[in-house]
Amino acid sequence: MTEHTSLVVGGTSGIGLATARLLRQRGATVHVVGRTERPIDPELIPHRADGGDPEQMAAVVDKIGPIDWLVVALSGAEGAGPIADLDVATLRRAFDGKFWAHLTTIRAVLPRLAPTGSITLIGAISARAAMPGTAGLAAINGAVEAMVRPLANELAPIRVNGVSPGVVDTPWWSGMPAEQRRFYFEQVARQLPTRRVATAEEVAEVVALAATNPNLTGTVVEADGGARIAALT
Ligand SMILES: NC(=O)c1ccc[n+]([C@@H]2O[C@H](COP(=O)([O-])OP(=O)(O)OC[C@H]3O[C@@H](n4cnc5c(N)ncnc54)[C@H](OP(=O)(O)O)[C@@H]3O)[C@@H](O)[C@H]2O)c1
Repeated sequence: MTEHTSLVVGGTSGIGLATARLLRQRGATVHVVGRTERPIDPELIPHRADGGDPEQMAAVVDKIGPIDWLVVALSGAEGAGPIADLDVATLRRAFDGKFWAHLTTIRAVLPRLAPTGSITLIGAISARAAMPGTAGLAAINGAVEAMVRPLANELAPIRVNGVSPGVVDTPWWSGMPAEQRRFYFEQVARQLPTRRVATAEEVAEVVALAATNPNLTGTVVEADGGARIAALT
């Protein structure tokens, strides 16, 4: 794997950071993008840019040169809540923060992506788990995941896959007070077939597989602890 170059957009925290570390451990040169300065492992190459900004992303891609594996792991934290309480402006921001940023990143990286390369998008199981209060998240992640199959045909032989996590213990949840988060995670764990909330490292294993396996394209891997078959409330 020594000759491969990976770009993980949203790679300075959570699932993206765990994926970046894993790909680096396996010998790839790994670039990570985030909007803010964060402490990062010295063996990862950091870039500050907004995945939703085409100029900023083009500048990053110009610096890197040819890219083999693009992983898009960014997202905002908005979009959850009962539909009656969810105003359209919030939902538009949430789409900007995830769907439009995914699309913008893909378009910016495409000119430098190797024909033998891959794109891996991170959706979420809210796209099909039917949990009340997740219609907004379902719409955003459904839109991200819906791109996978047509893009896999359109961009072939570049491979395009998605990974659809369930609840993962990452800083994404830091907006929820710690005690409330602990209670929520315990409740989720009880309802999941796996009886546990996933770690970023567990999801990263699946993301790395999707990014690197030459036989995998046009698929969304449900790395969700069985959330799609559980009656989550
Ligand atoms: N955690 C979960 O339970 C869960 C469940 C299902 C799906 N997911 C999905 O998994 C993906 C990763 O989530 P996570 O839990 O790992 O979140 P996280 O720990 O909050 O990490 C998000 C990363 O994305 C970066 N980022 C956010 N917006 C960006 C932008 N516009 N441009 C560039 N970088 C950006 C953040 O850095 P900066 O803020 O510095 O930019 C950070 O590095 C997301 O798409 C999320 O929706 C998460």
